[in-house]
Amino acid sequence: MQTGVPLFPEQASTVAAEVDALYIFLVVITAFFSILISGMIIYFAIKYRRRSESEIPKPIHGSTVLEAAWIIIPLIISMVVFVWGVDVFFKLARAPVDAIEIYVVGKQWMWKIQHIDGQREINELHIPVGRAVRLTLASEDVIHSFYVPAFRVKADVVPGRYTRTWFEATKPGRYHLFCAEYCGTKHSGMIGEVVVMEPAQYENWLSGGRSTGSLASQGENLFQELACNSCHREDSQARGPSLKELFGKPVQLQNGSTVTADESYIRESILTPNAKVVAGFDSIMPTFQGLITEEQTLQLIAYIRSLAKPPTGIAQPSPALTPTGPQTSKPLTPQPVRKGVPSAKQTPTK
Ligand code: CUA
Repeated sequence: MQTGVPLFPEQASTVAAEVDALYIFLVVITAFFSILISGMIIYFAIKYRRRSESEIPKPIHGSTVLEAAWIIIPLIISMVVFVWGVDVFFKLARAPVDAIEIYVVGKQWMWKIQHIDGQREINELHIPVGRAVRLTLASEDVIHSFYVPAFRVKADVVPGRYTRTWFEATKPGRYHLFCAEYCGTKHSGMIGEVVVMEPAQYENWLSGGRSTGSLASQGENLFQELACNSCHREDSQARGPSLKELFGKPVQLQNGSTVTADESYIRESILTPNAKVVAGFDSIMPTFQGLITEEQTLQLIAYIRSLAKPPTGIAQPSPALTPTGPQTSKPLTPQPVRKGVPSAKQTPTK
């Protein structure tokens, strides 16, 4: 906890210190040159002031050394900022492969969160400490922005597409979650908390309220309810492509091109089925635009994803979605699942 007036939010994620260091460097450089330049303006204004009405200044013929200096020094400084910035940016953009998958839907004016095991929350996100968490974010209506200052993480949540971000919390505690994009009357009320728990506590929390089934099994139910299985089937009567082993794989399209079956492709295929028709099939699938919510779309995706991997509690991101890069994340120590242990508060959603 901080006392007094904090200049910075708490540093509670693996990237926080790096983001701050770069930020402080920029502030120091900016302050140094602002003071230097304004000081020199004042100094020269006094030193070279006009001393008499008839005074004519001496002509200046330029200085190559001076010109080279004011080109080379700023170039070096901006290159340092660029390379450093790119390094931090790549870290922020590349989630470790073993990250926990969590789905977030922003809507006026709340954050709806779905865990892969089926837990749902509103304006609260429970995560374990010391474990990377990868978020896939969608918006039900307008642009929002998912912002956790203590983690130095901010991601725009844009209608019609998925955005992603990740973080690894380093300290248990409760941290502010804000919407950082003006999204209407109650934008300022679109706030919540990220609850970072010790792994054992988190396992307890996870094991509470699993009655609705995993995200994938919710998706499976929906898949049957919407009768998707009447076309997407394994036998000869299949009128749609098989979804088995599909996720993360390349898909050959009717127009000859190839796409990777990632979250965005599957979402598009559900909402605008004619946009990318799979080779060998007719474009007969009706749109589900307006019929299912963003949350339900995420459930269907989780189900299709589960058809491509062994059923574990934690999703394996597809290679297509996980840029290669330094992979650092410790595995969670397995905790025995205890029944009937009172868990942390979970917000039921409808
Ligand atoms: Cu949502 Cu501002």
